[in-house]
Amino acid sequence: MADKSRRAFMGKVLAGTAGVATVASLYAMKRTWDPLPSVVSAGFTTVDLSPLEAGKLSVIKWRGKPIFLLKHTDDVSPDDSRDIVTQDGRYTVVIGLCTHLGCIPEWRESESIFHCACHGGQYDIHAKQTFGPPPRPLDIPPFAIKGSSIVLGEEGPEYKKMTTQA
Ligand code: FES
Repeated sequence: MADKSRRAFMGKVLAGTAGVATVASLYAMKRTWDPLPSVVSAGFTTVDLSPLEAGKLSVIKWRGKPIFLLKHTDDVSPDDSRDIVTQDGRYTVVIGLCTHLGCIPEWRESESIFHCACHGGQYDIHAKQTFGPPPRPLDIPPFAIKGSSIVLGEEGPEYKKMTTQA
């Protein structure tokens, strides 16, 4: 009788141990499959555009690329095909790599142009190519507008509309 209850007890201990080991294994497997926190944070970046000063270029890094953020002054004529419009204003938000061979253009505030020193390419304030060898405007990263912020990496309705117009 004592032998039988001991066997039942050992069976329960074994089942419990196996259950804990299974849960621990599944947890470890999930941790392995999940992307690293650095990868997750690199994929989506929320940027509050409201502190930007009109006419002054800000540059942030997203997915290893420079992103140009430029708030328009009131005298800039709007371009609905390229401007990002939030509750606080109009912005040029583009990947800051020349579409010719990938140099990083500079913002010349006094001329309101992006100038690429590598081969003399130029872009207007909306980042459309106006001179030199660049074959197309600076690329617009995927974005979604959230109030006064944008989420880089998320394809919101405004981004989808822009890319279907192009
Ligand atoms: S890389 Fe910019 S003009 Fe050639």
